[in-house]
Amino acid sequence: MISQKLQDAFNEQINKEFYSEYLYLSMATWFDAENLPGFANFFKIQTQEEHFHAMKMYDFINERGGRILLKEISKPKVDFESALEIFELAYIHEQYVTKLINELMDLAIDEKDHATKSFLNWFIDEQVEEEASMDTILGKLKMLGGNGHGMLMIDNELSSRVFNPPVK
Ligand code: FEO
Repeated sequence: MISQKLQDAFNEQINKEFYSEYLYLSMATWFDAENLPGFANFFKIQTQEEHFHAMKMYDFINERGGRILLKEISKPKVDFESALEIFELAYIHEQYVTKLINELMDLAIDEKDHATKSFLNWFIDEQVEEEASMDTILGKLKMLGGNGHGMLMIDNELSSRVFNPPVK
């Protein structure tokens, strides 16, 4: 059985994962409006990743005899200036999520909950990838400095991203 403290913290994190899904969908809408379907695809796939994160936590709380309590999802930012701004924001957002996951791990350690620590290791590793994936594209966009041809090349590259549900 999971402690009340951890259950509350996971319910908060489930909300943050659904917010991430919503934020990235908002970013996808901007790229669709700008006729950059590859970038939009990248963020639509990212929404699936975030949904998976939320549901992985949902299943864990359920298995541990806890209760999932859904909360209101905040309105995401909807106006953006550029692709560069979007990736800067996405990278900052992933660093924020990493901090939240680390805090969850700190709580699991305080509570001496070894099953939760083991579960959270997956998310600790996942956040390394999440940050790297945003930072890699951000780096490319910075190098391009608004070059239209380069943007189309990245758009083409990102159109091939697919969602591969990780093995649980
Ligand atoms: Fe659920 Fe992008 O971290």
